[in-house]
Amino acid sequence: MTATEAARRRVPGGSAPPVLSLRDVVVEYAAETTVRAVRGVSLDIAPGEVVGVAGESGCGKSTLAYAMTRLLRPPGAVTEGSVTFTPAGSEEAVDVLALDGQELQAFRWARIAMVFQSAMSALNPVVTIERQISDVFAAHGVKLSRAAKHERCADLIELVGIDRARLSSFPHELSGGMRQRVMIAMALALRPDVIIMDEPTTALDVVVQREILAEIDRLRDMFGFAVVFITHDLSLLLEISDHIAIMYAGRVVEYGEAAEILARPKHPYTVGLIDSFPSLRGARRVLRGIPGSPPDLSRPVHGCSFEPRCRHAFAPCPTVDPALRVPGRASRAPGDADPDRTVSPGSALTSVACLLHETRFRPGGPPADLHTPSHPSRAEVDRATAAGLTGAPTGSLGGSTRETSTETEVRA
Ligand SMILES: Nc1ncnc2c1ncn2[C@@H]1O[C@H](COP(=O)(O)OP(=O)(O)OP(=O)(O)O)[C@@H](O)[C@H]1O
Ligand code: SF4
Ligand SMILES: [Mg+2]
Repeated sequence: MTATEAARRRVPGGSAPPVLSLRDVVVEYAAETTVRAVRGVSLDIAPGEVVGVAGESGCGKSTLAYAMTRLLRPPGAVTEGSVTFTPAGSEEAVDVLALDGQELQAFRWARIAMVFQSAMSALNPVVTIERQISDVFAAHGVKLSRAAKHERCADLIELVGIDRARLSSFPHELSGGMRQRVMIAMALALRPDVIIMDEPTTALDVVVQREILAEIDRLRDMFGFAVVFITHDLSLLLEISDHIAIMYAGRVVEYGEAAEILARPKHPYTVGLIDSFPSLRGARRVLRGIPGSPPDLSRPVHGCSFEPRCRHAFAPCPTVDPALRVPGRASRAPGDADPDRTVSPGSALTSVACLLHETRFRPGGPPADLHTPSHPSRAEVDRATAAGLTGAPTGSLGGSTRETSTETEVRA
């Protein structure tokens, strides 16, 4: 499915309350110097939708997933904010961070399940697949006869496209793709409302990756669970997600509908991510990397965390911390100290944390060259090549004097 097709797809959930709602979540790892890995994330997940979370390694994607599922282990802890779960059709919200003991055990996996980054290390190597799936039932007090349990396990692995004869296999006897399918089967065992998938297909080849994504989409249509899909591969997310949250240095810096983010990225970091991957269908284009590296989250971040890498940085960026807002909604109410309001996550509008979109700093709006075309014309590529810019600083192409990354020319 293309991003456009994904956008045409009705965003599930409609006006139903979000099944999972995060507000200003902060996660810290208490070490010699405390790492503030998630720095105030708010996110709504509607019933049945796919929310993609993308961002570079170390930006806090997995930490956020562990916070949502209460799987964080010391020294990690949620130090601020709230996580609320509201089952579909219910008005009663559950305070996820307050769950304890048996309540927490009953909640986890039955309501929110997780497919981990590495299936090989998540599965127990010395236990058969059947035992591992059966353990999910046992841990949640699902009482079944031996024969009924065997049938349930067999049904589950068949659901994800594995022959039931494989129930007696050990993880090392399965391919990487099959192991990841087993993880998905285990996540489905108790029919959760939300499945968090943390890089479920990263280690797999493209063909197997596509098969598994199609499988997830089919299962979601069958069972109606919502998916939070985490990856550093934005091109993948643009195809499968209803909404996308772009994370940078522990924050969501852009949030919106997938097709809108692809067509009109608003944060310079999102533009950089989109320009970092080749298109399979588009014209020949220049790939632009993102220079530099993310900040060290064990030190306080002043101003915009992306400032040292941003080719659009301007005067206020080193000192003013941009909040996630909907651009162009800056009507100031009389006496209102904050003209650009923060937005409720889950809004149909794209929100962005970048001062270029704040009217108090740029009354005329962001610069015209912000939305770097993701498919530059052939002439632009040829001009760049003729000028010897391939592999050279990108200033002449992107209008930047700050960038020092290299470019790669690809023929798509
Ligand atoms: N146990 C820990 N102790 C201290 N710091 C940690 C710990 N686990 C993660 N971090 C730090 O928290 C930050 C976020 O890490 P996290 O694993 O959530 O990133 P990620 O976006 O999932 O990265 P990747 O794409 O590589 O999986 C990183 O700076 C990381 O070094
Ligand atoms: S706030 Fe400034 S530094 Fe940050 S992304 Fe926007 S323009 Fe770049
Ligand atoms: Mg991770």
